[in-house]
Amino acid sequence: MKKARIFSVSNQKGGVGKTTTTINLATALAAVEKKVLVVDLDPQGNATVSVGAKRRLGSKNSYTVFVGGENLKDCVCATDIPYLYVLPASKELLGVDIELADSEKPQFYLKKALEQADDFDYIFIDCPPAVGLLTMNALAASDCVIIPVQCEYLALEGVADLMKTINKIKKNFNPSLTVHGIVLTMFDGRSNLSKSIVNDVKEFFGDQVYDTLIPRNVRIPEAPSHGIPVMLYDYKSAGAQSYIKLAAEVLKREREFLIHG
Ligand SMILES: Nc1ncnc2c1ncn2[C@@H]1O[C@H](COP(=O)(O)OP(=O)(O)OP(=O)(O)O)[C@@H](O)[C@H]1O
Ligand SMILES: [Mg+2]
Repeated sequence: MKKARIFSVSNQKGGVGKTTTTINLATALAAVEKKVLVVDLDPQGNATVSVGAKRRLGSKNSYTVFVGGENLKDCVCATDIPYLYVLPASKELLGVDIELADSEKPQFYLKKALEQADDFDYIFIDCPPAVGLLTMNALAASDCVIIPVQCEYLALEGVADLMKTINKIKKNFNPSLTVHGIVLTMFDGRSNLSKSIVNDVKEFFGDQVYDTLIPRNVRIPEAPSHGIPVMLYDYKSAGAQSYIKLAAEVLKREREFLIHG
């Protein structure tokens, strides 16, 4: 039985590049023949649509697996990209906070569900922009977290709260959870604000920040409407190339984690 490395891609701030980072890292790893599952845990279902799958109501989606106890293997869909699979989202995820509120250990539902994922190398969980039970379940089920931070005004707003949540989950539910890295997204080389945000984030988080900067690139928002990640939509674009570089950096950190723990 293979044990997948599980990554949450999380930041409670909306629109910072969580979904874009999830699907492009997943695609880059699938391109080197790693078997990858994207778990779409956001009721918006953007990751699902961005890899060419459909949001599913009623059955065989991340909600029915996670809350309904349906078998994960029956609900995972293959995509047109070899080695890349997705567990589609459903709007029913919106009710999870209320539905699980009174259950015992509501933070562990996803962890239990993902124990059935025994033939993937990597699992990427696309989290919603909120720190409710969905994100807590993702963090409790994960080995590590990738935090996208947008190079914009108030970039760090929310990250401090996310760090608090990560520490709480670490302390109470998942002691081995680590921050894999912070990725700066939508960087604009012509903007002094963008540059000063990069400096601030690096000053604050030091080595946790990946060297790769994801530039603001018009091909990135164009790609989802074609149901393919930017890497397939326009391989040569600066956006695609930056995510390939980021994937290499993620794998390098993975090797370092393996060696040094
Ligand atoms: N590097 C980039 N350059 C240009 N546009 C980008 C870039 N990264 C993301 N975008 C666009 O910005 C928007 C928000 O990105 P994305 O959906 O990945 O963020 P998110 O954090 O998942 O948002 P949400 O919090 O709503 O889930 C999308 O329209 C996306 O296509
Ligand atoms: Mg998203």
